[in-house]
Amino acid sequence: MSEQDKKIETFSEPTKIIQPSAEFRAKARVKSLAEYQALYTESLESPESFWKRETQDLVFRKPWTRLLDWQCPFAKWFIGAELNATESCLDRHLNTKTRDKQALIWESEPGEVTSLTYAELHAKVVEFAAALKQAGIQKGDRVAIYMGMVPEVVVGILACARIGAPHTVVFGGFAAESLRDRINDCGAKAVLTQDGSWRKGKVVPLKATVDEALRGTSTVEKVFVYNRLGAAECPIQMQAGRDVDWYDAVGAADRKLGEQPEIVDSEHPLFILYTSGSTGKPKGVMHTTAGYLAGTYLTSKYVFDLQPEDVYWCTADVGWVTGHSYIVYGPLANGATCLLYEGAPNAPDWGRFWQIIEKHKVNILYTAPTAIRAFMRQGSEWPAKSDLSSLRLLGTVGEPINPEAWLWYYREIGRNRCPVVDTWWQTETGAIMLTTLPGAHVMKPGSAGLPFFGVKPECVDSAGKAVGANEGGLLVLRKPWPSMLRTVWGDDERFRQQYWSDVPGSYFTGDGAHSDPDGYFTVVGRIDDVLNVSGHRIGTAEIESVLVAHPAVAEAAAVGRPDDLTGQALVAFVTLKAGLTPNETMERELADHVAKDIGKFARPASIRFADGLPKTRSGKIMRRLLKDIAAGRETSGDTSTLEDQGVLTKLRED
Ligand code: PRX
Repeated sequence: MSEQDKKIETFSEPTKIIQPSAEFRAKARVKSLAEYQALYTESLESPESFWKRETQDLVFRKPWTRLLDWQCPFAKWFIGAELNATESCLDRHLNTKTRDKQALIWESEPGEVTSLTYAELHAKVVEFAAALKQAGIQKGDRVAIYMGMVPEVVVGILACARIGAPHTVVFGGFAAESLRDRINDCGAKAVLTQDGSWRKGKVVPLKATVDEALRGTSTVEKVFVYNRLGAAECPIQMQAGRDVDWYDAVGAADRKLGEQPEIVDSEHPLFILYTSGSTGKPKGVMHTTAGYLAGTYLTSKYVFDLQPEDVYWCTADVGWVTGHSYIVYGPLANGATCLLYEGAPNAPDWGRFWQIIEKHKVNILYTAPTAIRAFMRQGSEWPAKSDLSSLRLLGTVGEPINPEAWLWYYREIGRNRCPVVDTWWQTETGAIMLTTLPGAHVMKPGSAGLPFFGVKPECVDSAGKAVGANEGGLLVLRKPWPSMLRTVWGDDERFRQQYWSDVPGSYFTGDGAHSDPDGYFTVVGRIDDVLNVSGHRIGTAEIESVLVAHPAVAEAAAVGRPDDLTGQALVAFVTLKAGLTPNETMERELADHVAKDIGKFARPASIRFADGLPKTRSGKIMRRLLKDIAAGRETSGDTSTLEDQGVLTKLRED
């Protein structure tokens, strides 16, 4: 880690400060810094009273007797509590006005709109939970979900939660091989999918990919297929005995089976979500029921300042953690109206997002810096064509946002009226950890902000010692928090190693950060071998192992280079086997190979062929040098450990 330490700089540029408007502040849930500080202090010093009060609207069938059992790195929260997460997200609203309020508004890419009230969503979840049970899926069985952005994906997720079957949602952009690995790793018993979905006017054939993935699995007994597009647009094969039409299964099931939710222990696994790490295959991040629900509920309430009349739109795909926490569990537990959009932001053109906001009178928009930068590139004339006056709050997530993009978002979308919350968190943290609270804090473009309640972040050096204000360090979380991951599915040791061994006793995020004298944290980016391309996490080790599996490749190293649009872009350095000559066809073939194996989003932006890669005498690839070369920078730092100096000269020349 010492090499990393050297690269973490000290920051001292003054940051622009923006105040939330008096009007926003007056109506906000938390109205001042002092109010935030009082709650924050309570959350750390008297967590029992804090969480008791703050979770009183959630439904616990049996209350908890103790808040936390912490045997580092293993945590149990809300001990003794029994619950079912769907009672907080659905049933609790049925005796209130929220019953007939829209829970989901769905707009398809071609433009159809449908909606479901809380009562209707509840009914659909009950029916589908019954169908799952009828098919023999039981509490504890894992269910993989490979779907697009349709209401049924939310129904499927909640139906799994209702019967106590942990779901593992796999983003629809992953290829068959990646889906197969995830199904095999968690031993899924069922898969929920749909024939296909629309993306930029093209059909994404989801069911066909499931068929391919299932050729290499042995645990899946049932596949539920939602007929989204129909046979004319997307013909599919149904395998007798295994595949069943979603609504046929609902029609055949006894509804009573889904009515009574499975009441589970607070620590019952709610879901597994695979994410890339710096080594090996993706890890199954496991979240459990009560802590995750409490974290997503409370952050949704305070960070998005949700008010009963709000229409809220999180543009993430439900296949990523943002979709889990801030399309499904958090907003629904708050009784919010959530917008779900099926397609691409630029379908049919770059005005689509802004038309959606005007049409549905969206009040809160939560999106990614990459999308903001892409919109910014297209020019302000697109948002200017729509009435965006319904917006009152904006949010970003997934990667660092540069101040320029932040300010564009604030001015051109929020029209200088809406606070922007830059929320830092991870698949592992389950919920937002660093942010400003929109009515309580001033904003500093480019800086995420202060810790959420119960979160104790710090920037430290490689020995775990806190660094000073404005000094770069490794971002760690010093205390456990309710929505933290509990383990890596099936691999407690990897969990310990990956997150808790760099700085003993603290959770290491893998990110580099600095904090200013006001305690605002700015997260600079990953310092491990994980890339963030358009907000998608990609492990360089995964890319390398796919590349070296290609018969033409002798050796490969994948690194990131800065990119104005996507944050980082993936560059692969490849040495071919003896006798093979690099050319454009080979370059395309290797890029296709990665896209086919992992997914199109992981396709390298460029592949550079090399006779050899820079290595230390012990044979370790010196990635630091490759990163410099990929970025077109002078190579920095010590190169004396490099075995063959000639390799470097050659790479620079290429
Ligand atoms: O590097 C950080 C970056 O995204 C990583 C987490 O990725 P993932 O687990 O896919 O979750 C993304 C959505 C929560 C982090 O380690 N990241 C996320 N949000 C921010 C960020 N970097 C800077 N600022 C953010 N607001």
